[in-house]
Amino acid sequence: MSISRTAVDSYWMPFTSNRDFKESPRIIVGAEGHHYKTEDGRRIYDAFSGLWTSGLGHCHPKIVEAVQHQVAMLDYSLGFQAGSDKVFELAEKVTAIAPEGFSKIFFTNSGSESADTSLKIALGYHRARGEGHRTRLIGREKGYHGVNFGGMSVGGMTPNRKAFGASLLPCVDHLRHTWDLEHNAFSRGQPKWGTHLADDLERLAALHDGGNIAAVIVEPVSGSAGIIPPPVGYLERLREICDHYGILLIFDEVITAFGRIGEPFGAQRFGVMPDIINMAKGLTNGVIPMGAVMVRDEIYDAFMHGPKQAIELFHGYTYSGHPVAAAAGIAALDAYVEEGTFEQSRALEQHFEDELHAFKGHPLVSDIRNFGLMGGIDLVARPGEIGARGLEAHKKCFWEEDLMVRNGGDILQFSPFLNSRPEDITMTFEKVRKVLDQID
Ligand SMILES: Cc1ncc(COP(=O)(O)O)c(C=O)c1O
Repeated sequence: MSISRTAVDSYWMPFTSNRDFKESPRIIVGAEGHHYKTEDGRRIYDAFSGLWTSGLGHCHPKIVEAVQHQVAMLDYSLGFQAGSDKVFELAEKVTAIAPEGFSKIFFTNSGSESADTSLKIALGYHRARGEGHRTRLIGREKGYHGVNFGGMSVGGMTPNRKAFGASLLPCVDHLRHTWDLEHNAFSRGQPKWGTHLADDLERLAALHDGGNIAAVIVEPVSGSAGIIPPPVGYLERLREICDHYGILLIFDEVITAFGRIGEPFGAQRFGVMPDIINMAKGLTNGVIPMGAVMVRDEIYDAFMHGPKQAIELFHGYTYSGHPVAAAAGIAALDAYVEEGTFEQSRALEQHFEDELHAFKGHPLVSDIRNFGLMGGIDLVARPGEIGARGLEAHKKCFWEEDLMVRNGGDILQFSPFLNSRPEDITMTFEKVRKVLDQID
């Protein structure tokens, strides 16, 4: 290993079993197209396309060129009361492919910042309309909205919350999640069972009074908790209940936007229009950190009151709309359109689903779920060793099969490149099968 032991020991890695990792560090030094390169010269096929980020492939030449050009042209621009040309151009491009009625976008630097920004916008919107009593926020069990205080509070993944319990936001409640082994195991795409779980929002509206609820935030398809697609009719029902009580519906599309489920936005795929859409990851193809929150016009308009010199939203980041990130975003969006990426992704779905569900019946597999190019295989946990089997599968894929597979505990997660070939997907699952056949 050319990187020093001290270097490896110095880094406190995110969402990583640090002590285990440091025994066999998996270090990436380069990437090209669908492969990572390791320091010992191996090429690793990336079955997770970054971290749901890099659907167009790594080091896409047009994005690389745009970033190189931009950093030499304008490395940073003040973003408050001024802004770079690139961020306005990107705003126009994203809203051009958005669902009708979304013509305003606010930039952040990550999915977590997008989550907290969207919650603040929802609260500010109600207050601006004289409904400041709407302070309650509703998330969902198993939801993931990043790791900042707002997103963590509305999120519903227990390990991400439990160490910080006392510091979570007050006035938050959660819908039940929709995963149920008894009723919807091994569903292909959207399960037929579970629509009624949206009525949980009626229960919470009865408990808290719907008029006190500011917003409901959900991922159209839960990603980090292990790919949980919404039951048929579920999102439609949530929309109806929100409309009834005047509650804002936020779709956290940090994963589902930009072709991951075959359309620019999941809202378009499901034909359900939220009031706010969060995004990140695919916005720049993962090249430069960037996130965004896009709102329906009436939400933006509600803030545009008071004296003209007044700041309407006291919120923003030093790096909101960073010109280099914006340049990467413009190039990524151009590539999606020019290369027909969303259509390519949609065309791959059936093959991906068939290959994934071929693991049904494997002795280590307890459930399989998929939607678009998102897929999860649940491995049965070893008694008393939750996550161990998933981590072993991840490491064996990396060291023995030159394959990067993400494990979220015992769930193997798949996020193929949007421009994969069917044979890439077949090869991925052949390798995964080989590994699963070898571990106990
Ligand atoms: C739906 C969703 N929201 C928010 C986030 C957090 O994004 P980030 O890690 O960029 O803060 C993620 C990350 O995976 C996500 O999947």
